[in-house]
Amino acid sequence: MTITQDSSAPLVAVVGATGAQGGSVVKALAESNKPYRVRGFTRDSTKPAAQKLVAQGVDVVDVSLVLDNVKNVFKAFEGANMAFLMTAFMVHLDAERETAEGKMMIDAAKAAGVERIVWSGLSNVTKISGGKYTHVVNFDSKALVTDYGRQSGVPFVDVQAGWYASNFMNPGQCPVKRPDGTFAIRLPVTPTASFPIIDAERDYGLYVVHVLEAAVFPDGEEVRTGEYLTMEEIALQLSQATGKQIVIDPMPMDQFEKEMTAMGLPPVLVLDLTDAYSAVGEFGYYGGKASPSVEGLFRTPTSWFEYAKTADWSKVLA
Ligand SMILES: NC(=O)c1ccc[n+]([C@@H]2O[C@H](COP(=O)([O-])OP(=O)(O)OC[C@H]3O[C@@H](n4cnc5c(N)ncnc54)[C@H](OP(=O)(O)O)[C@@H]3O)[C@@H](O)[C@H]2O)c1
Repeated sequence: MTITQDSSAPLVAVVGATGAQGGSVVKALAESNKPYRVRGFTRDSTKPAAQKLVAQGVDVVDVSLVLDNVKNVFKAFEGANMAFLMTAFMVHLDAERETAEGKMMIDAAKAAGVERIVWSGLSNVTKISGGKYTHVVNFDSKALVTDYGRQSGVPFVDVQAGWYASNFMNPGQCPVKRPDGTFAIRLPVTPTASFPIIDAERDYGLYVVHVLEAAVFPDGEEVRTGEYLTMEEIALQLSQATGKQIVIDPMPMDQFEKEMTAMGLPPVLVLDLTDAYSAVGEFGYYGGKASPSVEGLFRTPTSWFEYAKTADWSKVLA
């Protein structure tokens, strides 16, 4: 089924349609066997990712989802039947702003009369850790939006994104070459620490569409996504998939902090990352809640092994 213009089909407003999560939601809506009209938001409809959406039949709307543009934000949601909402913390690294913008989107979707909201939240790490880790601000800020959404009166589900498989391509997180030619993943976590790995671009939307299509919308629930693997398993499968020898060589936290600072990361992000790795190691990415389930998804999500096998590692594992 492709995206339709038929006015009898529900209209889904998708925030971040040109990005990983929103793009994945559009992809899954297009893959579903049910018809949808899709409205995708961007700040620049001329960019290639937006034009690709236009070619797929998405109604691409230029709107910046920021507080001083609130009138246009409300207008942008008008007529929508369902909404997928997310926030892009890395754009500004401002937790208060992230929470405020998330709440504004909920207000706008509510004012438009949407019947279902799916929100991309994350756990409240301060709560999960009993106050031990208070600097994972991009998690906590999203959790505050979740609390607000649950009280909004609009049926609301939080679909939490797992740890992106693509993170292992990024500087500071990717395997590094050692003098003997082998590679090491040098993160400040033990080899037994578990991460719910997801190919966000390909698969996050599967979970969102599953929820949007539920016969009984699971109002108030939290959906967790990804394939739980230990760091050891991640390294082993990456080795098997690429033919390179990759091991886990945990970096002491103080060294990690220094390296992130030397890479030019702002202090708020260095603190966020160091507390995040500590908290995931001690309390789990989802705070010890049940592992993600793939039951009912209309397609099996990509496994880490499949991702590792098909991704282009030529720059990372050279
Ligand atoms: N990396 C991970 O492992 C991980 C795991 C879980 C959750 N997360 C969270 O995922 C979020 C990022 O999602 P993503 O990966 O989908 O991001 P992404 O690929 O960087 O895309 C960001 C999207 O947000 C849109 N956007 C940004 N500012 C906007 C604004 N002012 N108005 C309208 N649209 C705006 C962008 O649209 P245009 O540029 O086209 O305007 C783009 O579509 C972050 O909040 C992060 O904390 C990440």
